[in-house]
Amino acid sequence: MRTDRTFTMIKPDGVANGYIGAILNKMIEGGFRIVAMKYLQLTPERAGEFYAIHKERPFYGELVNYMSSGPIVAVILEKENAIEDFRTLIGATDPAKAAPGTIRNLYAKDISANAVHGSDSDENAAIEGDFFFSHLERF
Ligand code: RTP
Ligand code: MG
Repeated sequence: MRTDRTFTMIKPDGVANGYIGAILNKMIEGGFRIVAMKYLQLTPERAGEFYAIHKERPFYGELVNYMSSGPIVAVILEKENAIEDFRTLIGATDPAKAAPGTIRNLYAKDISANAVHGSDSDENAAIEGDFFFSHLERF
């Protein structure tokens, strides 16, 4: 299992509020290299599948609706110690508790519309990356 990759999404609020460029810039300035990237809108079915791990949580329905409400940017990133360093870069789940200068502190509004996703383990980074990308696309 490689430890140098994570998976992220710029969520519908980050895209709708015009922060794609600013958020990608924070990732690049933070030392992450873009391995793969895709702009798309999830169907409710696909969003439900992606967040199946949260199926029993009270916010699951709201989360699935929200994540399928508009376009997102899906990205695989590479850096040494990627998972931990990226979670530090994005800040706490609730933007009100996110440290100053973190992506969620700068660009997110509330716990549902919190601008970005970040994988929580090497195992989930691989699963989540594979969900969106089967290989590095050439066109
Ligand atoms: P993410 O998976 O999106 O990177 O966020 P996270 O690890 O910081 O938080 P997690 O516990 O995995 O929750 C996934 C997403 O569900 C929404 N959420 N809403 N209303 C609520 O209490 C609540 N709690 C979590 C957030 O959008 C969170 O990012
Ligand atoms: Mg999570």
